[in-house]
Amino acid sequence: MKPIQVGLLGLGNVGGGVYEVLRRNQEEIQRRAGRGIEVAMVSRRDVAKARAMVGHTAQVVADPRAVIANPDIDIVVELIGGYDLARELVLEAIAAGKHVVTANKALLAMHGTEIFAAAHAKGVMVAFEAAVAGGIPIIKALREGLTANRIEWIAGIINGTTNFILSEMRDKGLDFGVVLKEAQRLGYAEADPTFDIEGVDAAHKLTLMSSIAFGIPVQFGKAYTEGITQLSSIDIRYAEQLGYRIKLLGVTKRTSAGIELRVHPCLVPSKRLIANVEGPMNAVLVQADAVGTTLYYGKGAGSEPTASAVIADLVDITRLHTADPQNRVPHLAFQPDAMSDLAV
Ligand code: HSE
Repeated sequence: MKPIQVGLLGLGNVGGGVYEVLRRNQEEIQRRAGRGIEVAMVSRRDVAKARAMVGHTAQVVADPRAVIANPDIDIVVELIGGYDLARELVLEAIAAGKHVVTANKALLAMHGTEIFAAAHAKGVMVAFEAAVAGGIPIIKALREGLTANRIEWIAGIINGTTNFILSEMRDKGLDFGVVLKEAQRLGYAEADPTFDIEGVDAAHKLTLMSSIAFGIPVQFGKAYTEGITQLSSIDIRYAEQLGYRIKLLGVTKRTSAGIELRVHPCLVPSKRLIANVEGPMNAVLVQADAVGTTLYYGKGAGSEPTASAVIADLVDITRLHTADPQNRVPHLAFQPDAMSDLAV
């Protein structure tokens, strides 16, 4: 069978990782997907740079719309980032009958309800494992592994940049600004790092997890969001003396009034596992009725960890796309008509 044809919109840090891991683990991935997965086309404004990365193994274009217009492309991977152009491209890809994989949490937090509804109407899948907690398969855990459970709450460190900053300030006594620059150099931070340090990136991710866990629409605007910019080294030292670590947590839980969504710095007792998550790592705790508490830990950012999640979605979609269309399980797309409670 012909490999499923993938078009990458954007070939930067994550796109390069997707290309490399698909190439390196080609045989295993093909065995698991039941079919080859081929990056057939990539778009990048700097065509020469893209060409240097992929040689002549894929068609290289400057215009992302050329990828969407190609009738041979089955899955479009959106790695451009930002809101407006990404929204237009994703909606165009859906309208053209393509499945979509995206790592763009900002896009989905703002426009997810519209995008998922469009995908639902068109019968295509929108998958976004890479949008939350990088390489940790938390979306699949919530949607599949914990599917038997009534989820009570989720609490997590879901922004690697701020966790890295807090760790370095504590361990090395470094200044906030110095560590932020280092996080940018290492490629953890968003293009606009205020999203990281003001808690916005964590709120984007929290909104997506909450939507899946509680079956509510994506309601980023309802999240209380506070970052780490008001913290100083002295706060971190005092917390330490009292037996606590300061962590930027995203918390969503059921309350009698509805679903709560909040991101803010928390004092976590130093002995707790989550207090010992250091550096750019992420960790998500989920409290559910049947299984109890589960904890998911791993790299929340970076080229190959994020690529790992993007490729997991490509494999899922390949399996489902290749299955008899009558038997396809549309579990990757939200079911807008099944949504119930509202966030408060
Ligand atoms: N800026 C994000 C972080 C990247 O630091 O976690 C991964 O979403």
